[in-house]
Amino acid sequence: MDGPGRDPSTFPPYLYEAYRATVRRSPKQPLIPLPQTLSEITGPGPAISAALHQTVQGAVGAEDTDLTTNMGTGTEAMGERIIVTGRVLDEHGAPLVGTLVEIWQTNAAGRYRHRVDQHHAPLDPNFLGYGRCLTDTNGVYRFVTIRPGAYPWQNHPNAWRPAHIHFSLFGPSWVSRLVTQMYFPGDPLQPLDPIFNSVPTGAAQARLVAQYAHDVTQEGYALGFRFDIVLRGPRATPFEPFEAAQRATR
Ligand SMILES: [Fe+2]
Repeated sequence: MDGPGRDPSTFPPYLYEAYRATVRRSPKQPLIPLPQTLSEITGPGPAISAALHQTVQGAVGAEDTDLTTNMGTGTEAMGERIIVTGRVLDEHGAPLVGTLVEIWQTNAAGRYRHRVDQHHAPLDPNFLGYGRCLTDTNGVYRFVTIRPGAYPWQNHPNAWRPAHIHFSLFGPSWVSRLVTQMYFPGDPLQPLDPIFNSVPTGAAQARLVAQYAHDVTQEGYALGFRFDIVLRGPRATPFEPFEAAQRATR
């Protein structure tokens, strides 16, 4: 069953049986639309009030965009350093300014810094795995990070998630949060992954794969990847169903 307003040619369905968690959490009854009120979906953005907006802007610092150092230990994280950048755009290609973009990911060994992650892989004491920034006047976000590793999960025998970075975007209010995952080009695990496969094949899946960008690559420092995010319309980035977004850890 698809939610209202979710284009099935772009967005994954609530129920995709190969992705086992969706069997438990997908709606069993027809959805009942609950119209959102103006105060729920509008605001100065990001977040829900002007005061909170200022708090968010004040709280997001340049150090939050560099996951190789934002653990704050004074020692750089281990792994292949990469730059991930892109624009946040509306359906007309116009940039969204001041959007709060958050990312989280595994370290280079495929391990999250999270208590439920028991993957037998080393934690990096110098890698937090979380970063955030606000889009600039051109809608651009930019992170320096470590290329994440693949990791096993319990969905099916010998199941491995392809390398990915989780993205969350906040619009002008809390109910306008969108969550998705960015993948890397040429990863052989993608066609084996039920989460990736739950996204319609073709153009929609391609929108989740970052492109290598030599103009972003910095000589002697890091490889660059570009990942633009379109919030709606026929070129929309596939976002996860709201229920899945609430528990987006995998
Ligand atoms: Fe993940």
